[in-house]
Amino acid sequence: MKGPDPVLEVANLQTVVRSGGRDLPVVRGVSFDVSAGEAIALVGESGSGKSMTALSMMGLLPAAARVTEGSVRLSGRDVLRLDGLELRRVRGAEIAMIYQEPMTALNPLMRVGAQVVEGLRAHAVPSGDARSRTLEALGEVGLPRPERIARSYPHELSGGQRQRVMIAMAVAMRPKVLIADEPTTALDVTIQQQVLGLVDELRQRHGMALIWITHDLGVVARIAERVLVMYAGRVVESGRSGDLFRRPEHPYTAGLLGSIPPALGDKRPALLQIGGAPPDLAALPAGCTFHPRCPQRVAKCSQQDPALEPRGDDLVACWVPRDRWVS
Ligand SMILES: Nc1ncnc2c1ncn2[C@@H]1O[C@H](COP(=O)(O)OP(=O)(O)OP(=O)(O)O)[C@@H](O)[C@H]1O
Ligand SMILES: [Mg+2]
Repeated sequence: MKGPDPVLEVANLQTVVRSGGRDLPVVRGVSFDVSAGEAIALVGESGSGKSMTALSMMGLLPAAARVTEGSVRLSGRDVLRLDGLELRRVRGAEIAMIYQEPMTALNPLMRVGAQVVEGLRAHAVPSGDARSRTLEALGEVGLPRPERIARSYPHELSGGQRQRVMIAMAVAMRPKVLIADEPTTALDVTIQQQVLGLVDELRQRHGMALIWITHDLGVVARIAERVLVMYAGRVVESGRSGDLFRRPEHPYTAGLLGSIPPALGDKRPALLQIGGAPPDLAALPAGCTFHPRCPQRVAKCSQQDPALEPRGDDLVACWVPRDRWVS
């Protein structure tokens, strides 16, 4: 599915993790694109490869992991082919990530203003400009009295304030693409809602593309125009979020959604648990990797792996059309 003006194009991304002397596939041929100003969501069970996909795109994989194939084109340039220096220039300036546990992103020993300044300076913003842009960025994320906040250490701020500082750091350079990786255990729900509202507003104001990784279907319904559903390192379904919620075409998506359509507003339904366990990456099942857990499986499913193909307006990787599902 091509947007009108893709700013980020991921094609056949494959990432492995070295574990016990072998390479385990954690991202298996992920392809998608995002347009300027568009918001998409990445959903899937724990361990399905969402964070590994994001970290691959950012060039921030842990030491044990590496990308083995594919491309991540950002305004036409392949991020995966950049050297260390070029990558550091692109990261932050063109593609940025917010971790929703702000303490992992902030240095506890440094005043927060100095941290934002340092980020800007790393992208060759002159120091005077960096200072004024820091105060501007802190103001833009709704922190009152930015001068005072800038002088504070992370521990002197509330959880919500720290999250706003982290967002200010991420958007200070006006990146074209912003990735948010939400922890499974949401912090305070009210704070999360505020952060979501703020990031969405910044997306609209600056025309950033937004990739939101979440377990929370309320979040998806509220902000994402399109959803990608991941299972065992692959995208198994993608489509417009409204259509996908109303009419999932993949049994895995249907399982995650259950029968509850996500409510808008402050009810925040999470992905449902589905029966069985995610597959062992060291011994992926033959055929469709979901077939051992799938209530709709037919003989072919254990023999041949379905490709992600158009079905209506969606892309789906499944042999069994929805009208042949058994209830
Ligand atoms: N540092 C690591 N070393 C070895 N395996 C890892 C490492 N980090 C992640 N993995 C494995 O990679 C796979 C994908 O993990 P990933 O963190 O991308 O999942 P996720 O979809 O983000 O899950 P969650 O919703 O829990 O955040 C999992 O099987 C995980 O166990
Ligand atoms: Mg994750």
